Amino acid sequence: MKATAKAHTNIALIKYWGKRNDALILPTNNSLSVTLDGFYTETTVEFDKQLVEDKFILDDEEVTGDAYKRVTEYLDLIREYGDMKGLYARVNSTNAVPTAAGFASSASGFAALAAAATKAADLNVSDVELSKLTRQGSGSACRSIYGGFVEWEKGEKEDGTDSYAKEIAPQSHWDLRVAAVVLNETEKDISSREGMKRTVDTSEFYDGWLAGIPADIIEIKAGIRARDFNRVGSVAEANCLKMHATTLGAKPPFTYWTDATMRVMQTVQSLRKKGVSAYFTIDAGPNVKVLYQPESEEEVEKTLRETEGVSDVILSHVGAGISYL
Ligand code: PMV
Repeated sequence: MKATAKAHTNIALIKYWGKRNDALILPTNNSLSVTLDGFYTETTVEFDKQLVEDKFILDDEEVTGDAYKRVTEYLDLIREYGDMKGLYARVNSTNAVPTAAGFASSASGFAALAAAATKAADLNVSDVELSKLTRQGSGSACRSIYGGFVEWEKGEKEDGTDSYAKEIAPQSHWDLRVAAVVLNETEKDISSREGMKRTVDTSEFYDGWLAGIPADIIEIKAGIRARDFNRVGSVAEANCLKMHATTLGAKPPFTYWTDATMRVMQTVQSLRKKGVSAYFTIDAGPNVKVLYQPESEEEVEKTLRETEGVSDVILSHVGAGISYL
C-alpha cells in the first residue's frame, strides 16, 4: 500500500479568486492555468496498519502544527472515499518549489498527495475524479493533475460533482516560457484562503471581477489555440490586475504588492516599450511571474535580474501532468 507521485505546480493566467462553498472548495469563477516544469513536489504515501496516526515528513523534517493538520484532514477525506477508516499513512514529500511566497506549492503539494494516496490505496480513479478529490485539498491544485494548458470549470452543482479541471491544450502545444521572479522580502502575511474570503465578503469591486471572467476565458482560449503570444499575455496581465484590484476595494483594504513587485511590473512594461514582448502575472503574494517567448529569454532574464529588489529568477517551460514513480 505504497505509491509515489510527482506533480508540477501551475500558474493561473485567469485567476481563481473566491469560493462559493468553503468546505468543498467550489469556486465562483472558471480559471485557466499553465502547468510549469520548473516547480514540482514528489510525494510517497504508505498506508500502514501498524501506525496509530499519520506521519508527515517534508524535505526530511517531520511536520507538526497547521501544516500537519491540513495533510491529515486531507487523508481523512481519502480514507472516507476509500472506506479505509483507521488506516493511517506515512507521507514523505520533497518540494522543488520555494514555499509560502505565491509560488503555489500547495498546488503541486496537494496534487502529488492526492495522486500518491489514491494510488497507494488502489482506488483506481479517473483524472476527472482525481481532479475533484485534489480540489478539496487546495483549489488551484485540481489544475495540476494535467500538463499543458488547463481550465477549471467552476461547475454549478451544490455537491461539487461538476467542478473539476480539464486539459485544453497539451504540454507539446506551445513553447511558452515563464520566469518566476523571486523578491528579497517574500513572506506573505495574508494567505490566498483568507485574502479571497475577505474580498468575496467585503470588496465593492468583486462583482466587477466576476462580470469580466467569461469574456477573459473566451479570449485566452482563442489566444492559446492560435499560439498568439500578445493576445494571451495581454489578457492574462489584465486579469491579474483586476484580481489584485479587488483587494483594494475590500474592508479593510489590503494588497499583496511590495515596492519591488511594482518595480518588476514596470520592468516588464519597459521591456515591451523596447519591443520585447513580455507580460506579468501575480498570485496571492508579492512575487511576479513573467511570460515570454523563447527568443527573448536572454534579454528578459538579464533585465529582470538587474531590477532592484530581485533576488532570483527561475526559468520554466510548460510542464507535464501527474506521473507515478
Ligand atoms: O488554491 P489556493 O488556495 O492556493 O488559491 C490560489 C489563488 C491564486 O493563486 C491567487 C489564483 C490561482 O488561480 O491560482
